[in-house]
Amino acid sequence: MNDQQQHAQIEAAAQRLRAGGVVAFPTETVYGLGAVAANPEAVRRVFAIKGRPTDHPLIVHIGQAAQLERWAREVPDQAWRLAERFWPGPLTLILPHHAHVPEVVTGGQDSVGLRVPDHPLALALLHALCPEHGLAAPSANRFGRISPTRARHVREELGEAVDMILDGGPCRVGLESTIISFVGGVPRLLRPGGIPAGALEEEIGMSILADDPQRPSVRASGGLPSHYAPATPLEVWPGAALWRRALELAGEGMRVAVLGMSAAPTAADGARLLRFPMPPQAADYGHALYDTLRRADAAGFDRLLAEAPPEEDAWRAVIDRLRRAGWKPQADDNFG
Ligand code: TXA
Ligand code: MG
Repeated sequence: MNDQQQHAQIEAAAQRLRAGGVVAFPTETVYGLGAVAANPEAVRRVFAIKGRPTDHPLIVHIGQAAQLERWAREVPDQAWRLAERFWPGPLTLILPHHAHVPEVVTGGQDSVGLRVPDHPLALALLHALCPEHGLAAPSANRFGRISPTRARHVREELGEAVDMILDGGPCRVGLESTIISFVGGVPRLLRPGGIPAGALEEEIGMSILADDPQRPSVRASGGLPSHYAPATPLEVWPGAALWRRALELAGEGMRVAVLGMSAAPTAADGARLLRFPMPPQAADYGHALYDTLRRADAAGFDRLLAEAPPEEDAWRAVIDRLRRAGWKPQADDNFG
């Protein structure tokens, strides 16, 4: 697509949105399903299309950090520092909201999630919409399913229900944004994501507390134990046990897909076993994970097996998503 065609696409998408439409658009993390945040009726359609409960808040995507104060009534210094350092980028800040932010966006909470996405099409779309507009957008998947990292994923899952899908190619990060809440005074990590918490802590010079899973400070569907899930049951095993388990299941007659960083021992090759090679670096792995899960899920296997990543900060988001994708603790895995 040349620049002129792309410009026309962006204008058409902005027009749809202004008219109350719902448009799927690319971000650097995953594709979003957007509606103008100030239009409650359009936002309600987003919930309906996703099949998402209406008390789960949406992130408002804005074009630049300077617009923070249009949505948030209090912005602590540390939040400003994070916004200035990491936006545009895979970071969402949860802050107390102004009265004009529609309740359907905030899910009735006293806070609003804000982020500047790092994707040229998303930024061009926000720019075309006018600075005072924000795009309320969850990930463009059905509630509880894997987030889309390609336009094709959105088309396959939501198809005709969406007014328009902007195709920006595969998402660079491939996992959702890191969510930090400033509600209640101290910064808390609500969801590990595209930026490791350690990098954020370094910027603000203080530690970021984990959200208490027993008493989450706010509702976040990404915080539900079973989320981002493929339909096929998934098990996660340390490298040493991975292929043993795969062979065992294949021996019981199951078709098994193995998302492995390490190659199969030759003895493990067989008609019932298929390896989906995964990159050994956390960022590359994160980029590939959802697309690989979708492909493996669609290929009709009885079981998905993934190799447990190292317990390191860089892998936090991947480990979190594998857990939510249905990872049941195995007897001899020591991942807590
Ligand atoms: O990378 C991302 O964050 C992607 C792209 C499209 O920006 N968006 C995304 O949105 O993952 P969603 O709705 O699928 O996940 C956002 C999470 C949800 O679990 C939601 O409940 C939580 O953020 N959230 C949004 N606003 C919140 C708020 N005010 N307080 C607490 N949690 C909030
Ligand atoms: Mg989502």
